[in-house]
Amino acid sequence: MIDPGVSTHILIIDDEESILDGCKQALEKSGYPVTTSSDGLAGIKLARDLKPGVVFVDLKMPNCSGMDIIEIISREMPDIVLIVITGYASIVSAVEAMKKGAYDYLPKPFTPDQLRAVTKRGIEHRLLKVEAERLREEKARMERNFITFVSHEMRSPLVTIQQYIESLKLISEGSLKPDAMQIIHRCEKRIQNLQDLIEHWLDISRIENGTFSEAKVTLNLTELIMRSLEEMNPLCQRREIFLESRLKDNLPVIMGDQESLLRVFSNIIGNATKYTPPGGTITVCSDCDDYYVYVSVSDSGQGIPQDKLPFIFEPFFRVHGKQERQKGSGLGLTFSKKIMDAHNATIEAASKEGEGTTFTMKFPRVYDL
Ligand SMILES: Nc1ncnc2c1ncn2[C@@H]1O[C@H](COP(=O)(O)OP(=O)(O)OP(=O)(O)O)[C@@H](O)[C@H]1O
Ligand SMILES: [Mg+2]
Repeated sequence: MIDPGVSTHILIIDDEESILDGCKQALEKSGYPVTTSSDGLAGIKLARDLKPGVVFVDLKMPNCSGMDIIEIISREMPDIVLIVITGYASIVSAVEAMKKGAYDYLPKPFTPDQLRAVTKRGIEHRLLKVEAERLREEKARMERNFITFVSHEMRSPLVTIQQYIESLKLISEGSLKPDAMQIIHRCEKRIQNLQDLIEHWLDISRIENGTFSEAKVTLNLTELIMRSLEEMNPLCQRREIFLESRLKDNLPVIMGDQESLLRVFSNIIGNATKYTPPGGTITVCSDCDDYYVYVSVSDSGQGIPQDKLPFIFEPFFRVHGKQERQKGSGLGLTFSKKIMDAHNATIEAASKEGEGTTFTMKFPRVYDL
């Protein structure tokens, strides 16, 4: 069934009156409203006014180039499905026209049935285009609603539960038995995990729909790395992991958003601490060449199996096995990759099971103009 919102109006632009009359008759018989034009410019004007579903354009007209008409209509009205009418000798031009935005071609001479078949395909293609656009808009709307839903319906109750637990601790004034206190601590930890997951999730949705605010300024990555190392040091000491750095002097600046890049570094170094057993080492290095600034984080941990490596930046992906004992949502790397993309920077992982993992980040250098 044809969607009432999709135009089935057909416009035919051809200098041969006999072709125009023949096509009009054949298509009107099948129920399509048809308008014709023997002049290129007048045809473009009709396309603008009528917004037809499909436009047929003859490539060879004496006073104007069909190729130009294709180019103008496909640029200005990309929803319209363009079909070129060509002589046998101009199949090469038909290919050229398709590169410029035409959807199909109809070689001359053609029968009414061939014309109707191409028209039907064109209208179906138009329907699919409209449907795809509708789904894109629906997806964007759902993503916007999703952010509102998650922040109101999930984040707010969690804060309330946290406050209840605080009140419970105050009311009991230390009278709770140790095992009851332990349960309360576990609740607090689980709530914290859930809050981290929600924040990650919201950040990713915000990046995807373009509402994640980033203020790019010139940044010295050495300072950022030092801050991340300071933040991570207590955790490494607790886990008996040696955290070392090999930073290049006078590292060139990059353009970036300080807070989001700090979170990327914390995610990557945080992963290294999570997936490296006590006694292991984490090394953070920085370097540069004429075009890029490099930051790498290597660990001597359990590594990532080769066949899992391609998926680690996918949302919710976690490697099953020993690593899974560590709590996590599988969103840290997804978030980090999206932030890096937004900086025109890359992040890649190399790993050997049982030996360790290296994440390498590559940022484009900025030069003073
Ligand atoms: N340095 C690493 N060594 C070994 N495995 C790693 C390392 N970094 C990441 N991984 C694997 O990649 C998976 C995805 O990492 P990611 O940071 O996205 O999620 P997570 O750490 O599980 O959870 P969170 O969202 O809390 O960060 C991890 O679950 C782990 O299996
Ligand atoms: Mg992580």
